[in-house]
Amino acid sequence: MLKDVHHVSMYGLDLGGVQQFLDRHFGILPIKTEGADEAVASGMRVAAASLLKARVAIFPVGPSLLEFMQPRGRLGRHYDVVRRNGGKPTVSHICWKLEDISSRHAELLSRGADIRERDWAGMSAHGGYYVFNIVAEEAVRGVWFQFAENLTLSEVTAIEEGQVKTRSHAREVEATGHKWVSSDVPAGALKYVHHVCYEVWGLDYMVDYMRKVFGVEPFKREDVSSEGLRAASFHFGRTIAQFVEPTRFDDANADFALRFGNHPGFCGGGVSHVGWAVDNLDDRIRELSGSGVRFVQAQPVVSPLGGYRLIDTAPELSGGLTFQLCEDV
Ligand SMILES: [Fe+2]
Repeated sequence: MLKDVHHVSMYGLDLGGVQQFLDRHFGILPIKTEGADEAVASGMRVAAASLLKARVAIFPVGPSLLEFMQPRGRLGRHYDVVRRNGGKPTVSHICWKLEDISSRHAELLSRGADIRERDWAGMSAHGGYYVFNIVAEEAVRGVWFQFAENLTLSEVTAIEEGQVKTRSHAREVEATGHKWVSSDVPAGALKYVHHVCYEVWGLDYMVDYMRKVFGVEPFKREDVSSEGLRAASFHFGRTIAQFVEPTRFDDANADFALRFGNHPGFCGGGVSHVGWAVDNLDDRIRELSGSGVRFVQAQPVVSPLGGYRLIDTAPELSGGLTFQLCEDV
């Protein structure tokens, strides 16, 4: 049922830094931005409510998108996620692609999924795709699942010609606001989402949930005691979803799961990191080093879960974000 990543959503406090890094080093430009401060630039007053709206930039990564949101002030649900992560940017949710989304919506409800939009698969507030959410609460161990299907071109045309009106759960979406998702953009250096890592308490419970609600089985289960974790890995399209349960006190995995993996309410968290696939990892590292990018590790390392090599970019020059670059072995 789950087919590939529709988008990775991240929240952080330096959208400009992320945007510049993606442009300069990976050749990726946003295909959509929202909430630029025209009013501030012109000296106009800003309505208080608009202070709660995050700034947004959405970047294409192969068949998927990277959505980055920056809260405008130190309040609201976006900021709460960043605050939980000590002010550092973090993944808020992964949105998975579904085909025939309204049938899948009904199917998931019938299997007991706690869907926020029970009555309909509504339009995203960004336009361009249908979306619904499984609420991040105890039934899913704090994980926020989101699902999407892009509008077809004929649906976009019907909306643009005024034959159909579209609403998100929050507001009406402008008729001109749908085409961006299908726009053709040149590919940058990041090819697709290689893996996403959910940190959860109760791995066996989570595997059982995935089986009963989504009808999927892990292709691999491991107990990596040297790293203080147990893991179950699933193939969703070409992306690997890793569910990791910490087994050690006072350890980075456990610290992250404590902040996000118990009961954050509808505000996200739970994904410790995302890996991005690149071609020819060693060439990329040479190129990036040459243009001033630094890395966390001196050399690429083999993932403790096996199957791929990885290296993390140092966060200082990319808005506090670490890009994990991956290549299968
Ligand atoms: Fe999303």
